[in-house]
Amino acid sequence: MSSQLSRRAALSCLAGTAVLMGTACSTARQPSAANTAADSLHLDPTRFEPQAVSVGGQSIAVRAYLGVLYISKPVDAAYQVMNIYVPEAYFQGAKVAGFDARTAPVFFPNQVGGYMPAKPGTAQAATQGPGAGKPSTIGTALLKGFVVASPGARGRTLKDAGGTYTGKAPAAIVDLKAAVRYLRWNAGVLPGDMEKIISSGTSAGGALSALLGASGNSPDYESYLQTIGAAPGRDDIFAVSAYCPITNLERADAAHEWLFNGVNDYRAIQVSMLDFNMVRKEVAGTLTPAQMQVSNALKPLFPAYVNSLQLRTPQGQVLALDAHGNGSFKDWVATYVQASAQGQLDAGKDLNQHSWLTVQGGKVRSLDLDAFVRYAGRMKLPPAFDALDASSGENNLFGTASTDNRHFTDFSVQHSTAGGAGRAEDKLVKMMNAMRYIGSQDARNAKRWRIRHGTIDRDTSLAIPVILATALQNQGYAVDFAMPWDQGHAGDYDLEQLFVWMTQVAKAN
Ligand code: DHB
Repeated sequence: MSSQLSRRAALSCLAGTAVLMGTACSTARQPSAANTAADSLHLDPTRFEPQAVSVGGQSIAVRAYLGVLYISKPVDAAYQVMNIYVPEAYFQGAKVAGFDARTAPVFFPNQVGGYMPAKPGTAQAATQGPGAGKPSTIGTALLKGFVVASPGARGRTLKDAGGTYTGKAPAAIVDLKAAVRYLRWNAGVLPGDMEKIISSGTSAGGALSALLGASGNSPDYESYLQTIGAAPGRDDIFAVSAYCPITNLERADAAHEWLFNGVNDYRAIQVSMLDFNMVRKEVAGTLTPAQMQVSNALKPLFPAYVNSLQLRTPQGQVLALDAHGNGSFKDWVATYVQASAQGQLDAGKDLNQHSWLTVQGGKVRSLDLDAFVRYAGRMKLPPAFDALDASSGENNLFGTASTDNRHFTDFSVQHSTAGGAGRAEDKLVKMMNAMRYIGSQDARNAKRWRIRHGTIDRDTSLAIPVILATALQNQGYAVDFAMPWDQGHAGDYDLEQLFVWMTQVAKAN
């Protein structure tokens, strides 16, 4: 049977909900002698582990398909795998939270942090690391009736046995796209609406979630997808959740100094990995005169970029900056911090200690963004992303099979202290940046977005999520963007609200 025929047979299994039980479909899916690579991409619906997933005193029976290889030519089979969880009810013709086997949206949370390699997520609550003691996001999704597919992905430090780097850009986004294609390819046997895939991630994972949502079906990635034996088909998705996306890397250094220039003391976090847990150690200091000069040189690059985007408020006001970095775009960034403060006042919190806020009659009248930034403080040294000595995690992301680290901005190439570090090709830098695909003719953008960036998250400039959210709004997409108050660099801290939003967008369309 050709792969197309076998796929048609599989799809015919969808005629009634009960056939989703797998056994009823399995005869149509036996591999034949003329097996093709694509046939090896079929999920065996009988290979699951029954699990009882508990969150906050509630429990749900699920079928767990663990470690499912989502491509036919793996580069690293430890990472290019996905955990798929399906509520058992969907195999019994029953409903969970109003969804059934045909309507259940598919939650697609990646686990990427620091652009490092990531294993797929599990439904069990973490016992160590930043998520320890918190409710499992995947477990919560299952209780809310979502099918969950959590992809692993290659990351910047991976090497094969011969010492070749195997997870440099664009590996992680290629893997996420391959996982999406695998889900659609298996729509015939997997419960869930594969037209309602909702991606989520935090930080580098938030950036990848946004990139997945922005770059749907872009031909830029096709040759990479073919190389790893991804299923043919579409990789666009329905909606995106992104917490503190570390995106727009080629503009992030200027955006950072636009916000933090003049804040010369820093409390930096050194990030290292210990047994796949990110360990963050605080180091404090003051910028050297040379670093202040770098900051002074980067800041003026930002207004021209912002102005080139021609961003507008929903009321149509153009968002721009003058040569000093002041203007309507800066005021626009401040409105999000201001709205966050207003939320605190409305909840009865006392914000009197913050001299950068002007409050009258329970309303925030104004916010001094420069003073607020001094309160939040600087964390990163300039350039924050494309380090002059090419030592940053992002330099490491843009390495090659044989070169560990490369530059990716004009500025850092020109001022490099890492003789011969090389530079990532513009096409590659583009392929890691959601901004480059928003509104592009060659990509299908997700049309529903939820973006969160804490007010005191200093891992990237507040301007970065504001630009992302505003560019999406300007395309007419539904964008729910907010800056949670006094929230640092983290994700999944508001699961109830996240799932209210996910359920609402899934049901509304
Ligand atoms: C992450 C944090 C960073 O500060 C960064 O530059 C890249 C990634 C992260 O937490 O994933």
